[in-house]
Amino acid sequence: MPDATADKSDATTRFVYVASAISALGGLLFGYSGVISGAILFIKEDFKLTVVEEEVVVAAVLIGALFGSAAGGKLADRFGRRKVLIVSAAIFAIGSIASSEAPNMYFLIAGRIVLGSAIGAASFIAPLYISEISPGTHRGRLVSINQIGLTGGILISYVVAYALSGIHGWRWMFRLGVVPALALFSGMLFMPESPRWLLLHGFRDKARAILKEILDKKEAEEEFQEIQKSTGFQANSWADLFSPRIRPALVLGIGLAVFQQVTGINTIIYYAPTILEFAGFKSDTQSILATVGVGVLNVVMTVIAMLLLDRVGRRPLLLAGLAGMALSLLFLGVAFDLPALSGVLAIVSALSLMIYVGSFAVGLGPVFWLLISEIYPLKVRGRAMSVATTANWGANLIVTLTFLSFIQMLGKPLTFWIYGLLGIGALLFAYFLVPETKGQSLEDIEAHWWAGKKAGEMGKNK
Ligand code: BGC
Repeated sequence: MPDATADKSDATTRFVYVASAISALGGLLFGYSGVISGAILFIKEDFKLTVVEEEVVVAAVLIGALFGSAAGGKLADRFGRRKVLIVSAAIFAIGSIASSEAPNMYFLIAGRIVLGSAIGAASFIAPLYISEISPGTHRGRLVSINQIGLTGGILISYVVAYALSGIHGWRWMFRLGVVPALALFSGMLFMPESPRWLLLHGFRDKARAILKEILDKKEAEEEFQEIQKSTGFQANSWADLFSPRIRPALVLGIGLAVFQQVTGINTIIYYAPTILEFAGFKSDTQSILATVGVGVLNVVMTVIAMLLLDRVGRRPLLLAGLAGMALSLLFLGVAFDLPALSGVLAIVSALSLMIYVGSFAVGLGPVFWLLISEIYPLKVRGRAMSVATTANWGANLIVTLTFLSFIQMLGKPLTFWIYGLLGIGALLFAYFLVPETKGQSLEDIEAHWWAGKKAGEMGKNK
């Protein structure tokens, strides 16, 4: 595809960026759910929670997200990406208010399941929507705006939790979730539906008009024809997802989804202070600094990834990031295995933690969500992303529920070595199976699978 922005007005480019930024508020909702790590300290006092009850309150969002991600794909394929995003924003707002007003633990759990279902759906429909409205040459950059929303949301949640901790303000921590939800809701009301979904459902004129907003006239017409070709491909039902030609893409999405979580990102992000405490950083100030530091680094490195994805490609960033993650996890394990070096230990573990988060943010973090928004056939794109996303939330839940028990049962070094070994597994998986999608149109990618070609051949001989 030629450089889609070369002879277009600034206004058009702005349109795609604005639409991407608005839908990326879906990512922000996802990230803001991290506010629970601050809120739970007060909730457990107010509701006198046992450890198990505390875990259930925290995990309720993940359980809701499993439902939301499983159901969201079929809905997005049937009713459109935009509508489902709008409804998810409304459900998020309702869930936030319900959680904030909870009179008891059961009500709170129910509110958080509702909230989670919205996050589960928005977590993949936002990147899906952006991917489908983006010109191929800028898709990497635009889709990763969603990951910036996500990492920004995590950072905001840290700051809000910290700011409200003085007034025991857990109810306000939840209430504030309504702000980004309303912004997403009202912003999306003014955004168009994805032109690809429109064309697939026979809204030809509307699809054409939106493509003309994104591309110049000639390219819009070419793209229109290309998308129309895709609508003729067979995949239509769940069964087609497992057909031999599409199966590699399915395996790829599920594999990356699971690796993204089992290499421990959310334990590191949410337990950073605990991990550093193990290493000898004890004061509250140090632990707050560490948490905010991790949050800022996560955002900054995601911005760098965003700038690089359409230049150097997805594969180099993913592979370099995975190598950095595996190495830093192994170092973290070694550091914990050498208690004699306690002063050095603190520094080595703080550095490993930073390298780990930076490597995730430049690679597997954004690249997973980007790839699953690119590699599936149009007709089943929502459902296929739904499968990968549900696998991601499922693995997230398992890791969340097992991390502290692993530390207790196996010890710190072994726990981090296991994550590190899984990181090496992820590196090999990515090296052999991940295609380079940089600069390809979604239709080229789809045609590649239907032609029965291997992932490794993608983007070559063009
Ligand atoms: C992951 C989340 C994680 C976040 C951290 C995302 O790509 O899916 O589980 O919390 O990155 O930045």
